Amino acid sequence: MRVVDLINKKKNGSELTSEEIDFVVQGYTKGEIPDYQISAFLMAVYFQGMSKEETANLTMSFVNSGDKADLSPIQGIKVDKHSTGGVGDKISLIVIPLVASFGVPVAKMSGRGLGHTGGTIDKLESIAGFRIELSPQEFINNVNTYKMAITGQSGNLTPADKKIYALRDVTATVDSIPLIASSVMSKKIASGADAIVLDVKVGSGAFMKSIEEAKELARTMVDIGKSLNRKTVAIVTDMNQPLGHEVGNANEIIEAIDVLRGQGSEDETAVALTIASYMAVLGGAFASYDEAYKAMEELISSGKAIEKLKQLIDIQGGNSAIVDNIDLLPKAQYHLEVKAAANGYVSTIDAEEIGISAMLLGAGRKTKEDKIDYAAGITMVKKVGDQVIIGDTLCILHTNLSECKEAEVVAFNAFAISESKPAPVSYIYDIIQ
Ligand code: URA
Repeated sequence: MRVVDLINKKKNGSELTSEEIDFVVQGYTKGEIPDYQISAFLMAVYFQGMSKEETANLTMSFVNSGDKADLSPIQGIKVDKHSTGGVGDKISLIVIPLVASFGVPVAKMSGRGLGHTGGTIDKLESIAGFRIELSPQEFINNVNTYKMAITGQSGNLTPADKKIYALRDVTATVDSIPLIASSVMSKKIASGADAIVLDVKVGSGAFMKSIEEAKELARTMVDIGKSLNRKTVAIVTDMNQPLGHEVGNANEIIEAIDVLRGQGSEDETAVALTIASYMAVLGGAFASYDEAYKAMEELISSGKAIEKLKQLIDIQGGNSAIVDNIDLLPKAQYHLEVKAAANGYVSTIDAEEIGISAMLLGAGRKTKEDKIDYAAGITMVKKVGDQVIIGDTLCILHTNLSECKEAEVVAFNAFAISESKPAPVSYIYDIIQ
């Protein structure tokens, strides 16, 4: 086989066989195929797309490029969730204790943030002592004993995806449905989950800008999961503005605590409880979604949900006193209010721009090597649909940097103010199963 012939075949819109896909993926992972040929291959896939079968084969080729986590010593149906990436997305912090409370094993492998999106692992590290590097044995023991554990990805899972994702990032080939679907699903399959709930974000802060595209991505991933015998549900959720009111790290922990106490914002609570309910249903704890949702609400109002979060922090070495005393979390030195310059209603908030502003304040990384300031972030005071008058605070920037003009300009420009009230926003657009 010659790579140039396979690039040509894809460029002309023909379907590749499983052997041909493997030849390209494994050859690149081993360093036998140069970047320029894979770049051309990815661009051909970008424009020609892939059939269902090709996408499933690409997924399995990524899975087979490295190690697979063996979670077989964990009893029960192991559930995991994955978000395609958002701003202010602290859903994992909320759903782990909720779902685990019903005896469903949540074996969560999470990543770090890069660019405008945050990562759950970074958020948890703002809690003093919290260990995200668990040995495979400790991870398994914690899930068996407490029904929950979270860890950064260990071992050499899906190295092909890692290498290809880095290349996609610099060749404008990220926003391709078969490439995103195979990238996401390969990581979930390799990390050993039996059931997967996917949070597919759509809007200004997401890879998928239209609901139609997001639904197609959701359907593609659900089909891959099912074809590989994983129970899979995808929930298409809004990312036309940041989720909830907090964007950053320590401040997102505070907002997760609020939701688990029943004091969370409407959007954050609705998305978190929907995802947690589907996870609990797939994990076999409830027969129906409605039953699960009601039980989640009762768990929160009983105070048991917040106790389960404390337990998660304790078992991973963190200081769980932060739950009752948020002053123990890192705090920024400076707080700068961004004010409205017009009267009207907030019509849109560009979530990606808010993510970039938070990154500039120190809450995220421009490059993988950057250090995060856990205290930095943004509080969204106004959300889409809110009325504003000139001089009202739109958002508050938290930082330890004495100079943050660029972040301030980016955050200000993220808000659009219109004279008329915009149509009400939706939080959840579709459930694909
Ligand atoms: N998240 C991933 O893991 N991969 C993609 O391609 C896009 C989002």
